[in-house]
Amino acid sequence: MLTGKRILITGGAQGMGREIALEAARQGAEFVGVADRNAEGAKETARAVEALGVGAQAIDVDLADAEQIRGMIDTTVAAAGGLDTLVNNAGIMEGAFTEDPSFEGLPEDVWDQVFSINVKAVWLASKYAAPHLRASGRGPSIVNAASVAGMVGYVSTAYPASKAAVIALTRTTAIALSPDVRVNAFAPGSIETPMSAGFLAAAAPEERDARLLGMTGAHLIPRFGTTGEIAKVVSFLASDDASFLTGVVVPVDGGTTAWRGHREQ
Ligand SMILES: NC(=O)c1ccc[n+]([C@@H]2O[C@H](COP(=O)([O-])OP(=O)(O)OC[C@H]3O[C@@H](n4cnc5c(N)ncnc54)[C@H](O)[C@@H]3O)[C@@H](O)[C@H]2O)c1
Repeated sequence: MLTGKRILITGGAQGMGREIALEAARQGAEFVGVADRNAEGAKETARAVEALGVGAQAIDVDLADAEQIRGMIDTTVAAAGGLDTLVNNAGIMEGAFTEDPSFEGLPEDVWDQVFSINVKAVWLASKYAAPHLRASGRGPSIVNAASVAGMVGYVSTAYPASKAAVIALTRTTAIALSPDVRVNAFAPGSIETPMSAGFLAAAAPEERDARLLGMTGAHLIPRFGTTGEIAKVVSFLASDDASFLTGVVVPVDGGTTAWRGHREQ
Protein backbone atom coordinates (compact mmCIF):
# COMPACT_ATOMS: atom_id res chain seq x y z
CA MET A 1 0.00 0.00 0.00
CA LEU A 2 1.01 3.61 -0.55
CA THR A 3 -0.95 5.02 2.35
CA GLY A 4 -0.21 8.70 3.02
CA LYS A 5 2.46 9.06 0.34
CA ARG A 6 2.85 12.19 -1.78
CA ILE A 7 3.83 10.98 -5.21
CA LEU A 8 5.06 12.65 -8.41
CA ILE A 9 4.92 10.73 -11.70
CA THR A 10 6.51 11.98 -14.92
CA GLY A 11 4.92 11.00 -18.23
CA GLY A 12 1.59 10.62 -16.45
CA ALA A 13 -0.64 11.70 -19.33
CA GLN A 14 -1.02 8.24 -20.84
CA GLY A 15 0.28 4.67 -20.93
CA MET A 16 2.07 3.32 -17.87
CA GLY A 17 2.30 6.72 -16.18
CA ARG A 18 -1.47 7.16 -16.13
CA GLU A 19 -2.03 3.67 -14.69
CA ILE A 20 0.73 4.19 -12.09
CA ALA A 21 -1.08 7.38 -10.99
CA LEU A 22 -4.43 5.58 -10.71
CA GLU A 23 -2.92 2.61 -8.86
CA ALA A 24 -1.23 5.00 -6.41
CA ALA A 25 -4.64 6.54 -5.71
CA ARG A 26 -6.22 3.10 -5.26
CA GLN A 27 -3.42 2.16 -2.83
CA GLY A 28 -4.08 5.12 -0.54
CA ALA A 29 -1.67 7.83 -1.73
CA GLU A 30 -2.35 11.23 -0.18
CA PHE A 31 -1.42 13.25 -3.30
CA VAL A 32 -0.51 12.44 -6.90
CA GLY A 33 1.34 14.94 -9.11
CA VAL A 34 0.93 14.14 -12.81
CA ALA A 35 3.70 15.74 -14.90
CA ASP A 36 3.77 15.67 -18.69
CA ARG A 37 4.35 17.87 -21.73
CA ASN A 38 0.90 16.69 -22.85
CA ALA A 39 -0.96 19.13 -20.60
CA GLU A 40 -4.43 17.95 -21.60
CA GLY A 41 -3.61 14.27 -20.98
CA ALA A 42 -2.04 15.14 -17.61
CA LYS A 43 -5.22 17.00 -16.61
CA GLU A 44 -7.34 13.99 -17.60
CA THR A 45 -5.21 11.71 -15.42
CA ALA A 46 -5.35 14.18 -12.52
CA ARG A 47 -9.15 14.35 -12.81
CA ALA A 48 -9.33 10.53 -12.81
CA VAL A 49 -7.19 10.45 -9.64
CA GLU A 50 -9.42 13.05 -7.98
CA ALA A 51 -12.46 10.97 -8.91
CA LEU A 52 -10.95 8.28 -6.66
CA GLY A 53 -11.00 10.79 -3.79
CA VAL A 54 -7.27 11.63 -3.84
CA GLY A 55 -5.70 15.08 -4.24
CA ALA A 56 -3.96 15.55 -7.58
CA GLN A 57 -2.35 18.20 -9.72
CA ALA A 58 -1.43 18.23 -13.39
CA ILE A 59 1.96 19.80 -14.06
CA ASP A 60 2.84 21.01 -17.57
CA VAL A 61 6.56 20.25 -18.06
CA ASP A 62 9.04 19.69 -20.85
CA LEU A 63 11.62 17.33 -19.35
CA ALA A 64 14.19 18.58 -21.87
CA ASP A 65 14.44 21.80 -19.82
CA ALA A 66 16.28 21.80 -16.47
CA GLU A 67 14.46 24.87 -15.12
CA GLN A 68 11.09 23.28 -15.91
CA ILE A 69 12.19 20.12 -14.09
CA ARG A 70 13.12 22.20 -11.05
CA GLY A 71 9.73 23.95 -11.32
CA MET A 72 7.95 20.56 -11.51
CA ILE A 73 9.49 19.50 -8.18
CA ASP A 74 8.82 22.88 -6.53
CA THR A 75 5.19 22.92 -7.72
CA THR A 76 4.60 19.41 -6.34
CA VAL A 77 6.16 20.19 -2.97
CA ALA A 78 4.14 23.41 -2.69
CA ALA A 79 0.88 21.62 -3.56
CA ALA A 80 1.45 18.47 -1.47
CA GLY A 81 3.45 19.88 1.45
CA GLY A 82 6.35 17.54 0.67
CA LEU A 83 7.42 14.67 -1.56
CA ASP A 84 7.78 10.97 -0.68
CA THR A 85 7.92 9.17 -4.03
CA LEU A 86 9.33 10.23 -7.40
CA VAL A 87 8.48 7.99 -10.36
CA ASN A 88 10.70 8.88 -13.32
CA ASN A 89 8.47 7.16 -15.86
CA ALA A 90 8.60 9.40 -18.96
CA GLY A 91 10.67 8.05 -21.83
CA ILE A 92 10.92 8.35 -25.59
CA MET A 93 12.13 6.30 -28.54
CA GLU A 94 14.08 7.79 -31.43
CA GLY A 95 11.35 6.80 -33.92
CA ALA A 96 9.23 9.64 -32.50
CA PHE A 97 11.70 12.21 -33.90
CA THR A 98 13.07 10.82 -37.15
CA GLU A 99 12.09 8.86 -40.22
CA ASP A 100 15.39 6.99 -40.03
CA PRO A 101 16.15 5.58 -36.58
CA SER A 102 18.68 3.07 -38.00
CA PHE A 103 22.22 2.77 -36.61
CA GLU A 104 23.79 4.47 -39.64
CA GLY A 105 20.96 6.89 -40.36
CA LEU A 106 20.08 8.26 -36.90
CA PRO A 107 20.61 12.05 -36.81
CA GLU A 108 22.99 13.18 -34.04
CA ASP A 109 20.47 15.59 -32.51
CA VAL A 110 17.94 12.75 -32.11
CA TRP A 111 20.51 10.76 -30.12
CA ASP A 112 20.87 13.81 -27.85
CA GLN A 113 17.09 14.22 -27.48
CA VAL A 114 16.68 10.59 -26.41
CA PHE A 115 19.45 10.89 -23.83
CA SER A 116 18.12 14.25 -22.63
CA ILE A 117 14.67 12.83 -21.74
CA ASN A 118 15.51 9.23 -20.86
CA VAL A 119 18.66 9.85 -18.82
CA LYS A 120 19.51 13.48 -18.02
CA ALA A 121 15.97 14.34 -16.93
CA VAL A 122 15.99 11.34 -14.56
CA TRP A 123 19.18 12.65 -12.96
CA LEU A 124 17.92 16.25 -12.75
CA ALA A 125 14.50 15.33 -11.31
CA SER A 126 16.19 13.08 -8.73
CA LYS A 127 18.75 15.79 -7.90
CA TYR A 128 16.08 18.47 -7.35
CA ALA A 129 13.83 16.03 -5.47
CA ALA A 130 16.61 14.71 -3.21
CA PRO A 131 16.42 17.30 -0.39
CA HIS A 132 12.63 16.93 -0.22
CA LEU A 133 12.79 13.12 -0.26
CA ARG A 134 15.41 13.17 2.49
CA ALA A 135 13.08 15.33 4.59
CA SER A 136 9.99 13.21 3.89
CA GLY A 137 9.81 10.95 6.95
CA ARG A 138 7.28 8.79 5.06
CA GLY A 139 9.43 6.02 3.51
CA PRO A 140 10.85 8.00 0.57
CA SER A 141 11.94 6.39 -2.68
CA ILE A 142 12.57 6.91 -6.38
CA VAL A 143 11.38 4.45 -9.04
CA ASN A 144 12.89 4.75 -12.54
CA ALA A 145 11.60 3.35 -15.85
CA ALA A 146 14.36 1.24 -17.42
CA SER A 147 13.65 -1.41 -20.11
CA VAL A 148 14.74 -4.92 -21.01
CA ALA A 149 16.23 -3.07 -24.01
CA GLY A 150 18.86 -1.82 -21.57
CA MET A 151 19.62 -5.37 -20.35
CA VAL A 152 19.80 -7.48 -23.53
CA GLY A 153 20.45 -6.52 -27.16
CA TYR A 154 17.68 -4.67 -28.98
CA VAL A 155 17.28 -3.45 -32.57
CA SER A 156 17.29 0.27 -31.95
CA THR A 157 20.15 2.75 -31.59
CA ALA A 158 19.98 5.39 -28.85
CA TYR A 159 17.05 3.96 -26.84
CA PRO A 160 18.74 0.76 -25.50
CA ALA A 161 21.91 2.70 -24.64
CA SER A 162 19.79 5.26 -22.77
CA LYS A 163 17.97 2.55 -20.80
CA ALA A 164 21.26 0.85 -19.88
CA ALA A 165 22.31 4.29 -18.62
CA VAL A 166 19.11 4.49 -16.53
CA ILE A 167 20.07 1.19 -14.89
CA ALA A 168 23.53 2.52 -14.02
CA LEU A 169 22.03 5.83 -12.86
CA THR A 170 19.57 3.95 -10.62
CA ARG A 171 22.48 2.28 -8.83
CA THR A 172 24.45 5.55 -8.66
CA THR A 173 21.45 7.36 -7.18
CA ALA A 174 20.84 4.53 -4.71
CA ILE A 175 24.42 4.94 -3.47
CA ALA A 176 24.25 8.74 -3.37
CA LEU A 177 20.98 8.90 -1.42
CA SER A 178 21.56 5.94 0.91
CA PRO A 179 20.46 5.25 3.54
CA ASP A 180 17.76 7.94 3.46
CA VAL A 181 16.07 7.27 0.12
CA ARG A 182 15.60 3.92 -1.66
CA VAL A 183 16.12 3.98 -5.45
CA ASN A 184 14.97 1.17 -7.77
CA ALA A 185 13.98 0.60 -11.39
CA PHE A 186 11.50 -1.51 -13.31
CA ALA A 187 12.40 -2.96 -16.72
CA PRO A 188 9.33 -3.66 -18.86
CA GLY A 189 9.18 -6.04 -21.77
CA SER A 190 6.64 -5.12 -24.48
CA ILE A 191 3.67 -3.47 -22.76
CA GLU A 192 0.46 -2.40 -24.46
CA THR A 193 0.68 1.44 -24.48
CA PRO A 194 0.59 4.26 -27.06
CA MET A 195 4.41 3.98 -27.28
CA SER A 196 4.40 0.29 -28.28
CA ALA A 197 1.39 0.85 -30.56
CA GLY A 198 3.33 3.62 -32.33
CA PHE A 199 6.40 1.39 -32.71
CA LEU A 200 4.24 -1.33 -34.24
CA ALA A 201 2.40 1.10 -36.53
CA ALA A 202 5.73 2.46 -37.82
CA ALA A 203 6.44 -0.88 -39.55
CA ALA A 204 5.41 -1.28 -43.21
CA PRO A 205 2.09 -3.20 -43.40
CA GLU A 206 3.78 -6.30 -44.85
CA GLU A 207 6.30 -6.29 -41.99
CA ARG A 208 3.80 -5.74 -39.17
CA ASP A 209 3.29 -9.42 -38.25
CA ALA A 210 7.04 -9.91 -38.04
CA ARG A 211 7.45 -6.80 -35.87
CA LEU A 212 4.62 -7.94 -33.59
CA LEU A 213 6.34 -11.30 -33.11
CA GLY A 214 9.61 -9.42 -32.64
CA MET A 215 8.00 -7.50 -29.75
CA THR A 216 6.16 -10.30 -27.93
CA GLY A 217 7.97 -13.41 -29.25
CA ALA A 218 10.65 -13.09 -26.61
CA HIS A 219 8.03 -13.28 -23.85
CA LEU A 220 7.57 -16.73 -22.26
CA ILE A 221 4.08 -15.48 -21.43
CA PRO A 222 2.82 -15.09 -25.02
CA ARG A 223 1.22 -11.64 -25.06
CA PHE A 224 1.87 -7.96 -24.38
CA GLY A 225 2.08 -6.98 -20.72
CA THR A 226 -0.51 -4.54 -19.40
CA THR A 227 -0.07 -1.16 -17.77
CA GLY A 228 -1.82 -2.60 -14.71
CA GLU A 229 0.89 -5.25 -14.36
CA ILE A 230 3.53 -2.51 -14.43
CA ALA A 231 1.67 -0.27 -11.99
CA LYS A 232 1.44 -3.06 -9.39
CA VAL A 233 5.22 -3.57 -9.44
CA VAL A 234 5.95 0.16 -9.32
CA SER A 235 3.58 0.50 -6.36
CA PHE A 236 5.33 -2.35 -4.57
CA LEU A 237 8.77 -0.80 -5.15
CA ALA A 238 7.49 2.54 -3.80
CA SER A 239 5.75 0.94 -0.81
CA ASP A 240 7.17 0.25 2.64
CA ASP A 241 6.83 -3.49 1.85
CA ALA A 242 10.00 -2.99 -0.25
CA SER A 243 11.87 -1.38 2.67
CA PHE A 244 15.06 -3.49 2.19
CA LEU A 245 15.20 -3.04 -1.61
CA THR A 246 17.46 -0.42 -3.10
CA GLY A 247 19.54 -0.29 -6.28
CA VAL A 248 17.63 -3.16 -7.92
CA VAL A 249 16.19 -3.45 -11.40
CA VAL A 250 13.02 -5.56 -11.56
CA PRO A 251 12.22 -7.01 -15.00
CA VAL A 252 8.45 -7.02 -15.68
CA ASP A 253 8.96 -8.76 -18.97
CA GLY A 254 6.93 -11.98 -19.27
CA GLY A 255 10.18 -13.94 -18.96
CA THR A 256 12.12 -12.23 -21.76
CA THR A 257 15.38 -12.02 -19.86
CA ALA A 258 15.06 -15.61 -18.55
CA TRP A 259 15.99 -17.35 -21.80
CA ARG A 260 17.88 -17.09 -25.09
CA GLY A 261 14.98 -18.22 -27.26
CA HIS A 262 12.23 -16.68 -29.32
CA ARG A 263 8.76 -18.10 -29.92
CA GLU A 264 7.82 -18.77 -33.57
CA GLN A 265 4.19 -17.71 -33.04
N1 LIG B 1 5.63 0.42 -23.78
C1 LIG B 1 6.63 -0.45 -23.69
O1 LIG B 1 6.54 -1.56 -24.24
C2 LIG B 1 7.88 -0.11 -22.89
C3 LIG B 1 8.85 -1.12 -22.77
C4 LIG B 1 9.99 -0.87 -22.00
C5 LIG B 1 10.15 0.37 -21.36
N2 LIG B 1 9.19 1.34 -21.51
C6 LIG B 1 9.42 2.60 -20.80
O2 LIG B 1 8.35 2.82 -19.87
C7 LIG B 1 8.07 4.22 -19.74
C8 LIG B 1 6.61 4.49 -20.06
O3 LIG B 1 6.34 4.02 -21.37
P1 LIG B 1 4.92 4.15 -22.09
O4 LIG B 1 4.86 3.04 -23.07
O5 LIG B 1 3.86 4.35 -21.10
O6 LIG B 1 5.19 5.52 -22.92
P2 LIG B 1 4.18 6.52 -23.65
O7 LIG B 1 4.88 7.04 -24.85
O8 LIG B 1 2.84 5.87 -23.85
O9 LIG B 1 4.03 7.67 -22.57
C9 LIG B 1 5.16 8.44 -22.23
C10 LIG B 1 4.69 9.77 -21.69
O10 LIG B 1 5.86 10.57 -21.48
C11 LIG B 1 5.59 11.88 -21.91
N3 LIG B 1 6.81 12.58 -22.32
C12 LIG B 1 7.64 12.23 -23.34
N4 LIG B 1 8.59 13.18 -23.49
C13 LIG B 1 8.35 14.13 -22.54
C14 LIG B 1 8.97 15.38 -22.21
N5 LIG B 1 10.01 15.85 -22.91
N6 LIG B 1 8.47 16.10 -21.18
C15 LIG B 1 7.39 15.65 -20.50
N7 LIG B 1 6.75 14.50 -20.77
C16 LIG B 1 7.23 13.75 -21.80
C17 LIG B 1 4.65 11.70 -23.10
O11 LIG B 1 3.92 12.90 -23.39
C18 LIG B 1 3.78 10.55 -22.65
O12 LIG B 1 2.62 11.00 -21.97
C19 LIG B 1 9.05 4.92 -20.70
O13 LIG B 1 10.20 5.33 -19.99
C20 LIG B 1 9.41 3.82 -21.69
O14 LIG B 1 10.66 4.05 -22.29
C21 LIG B 1 8.07 1.13 -22.27
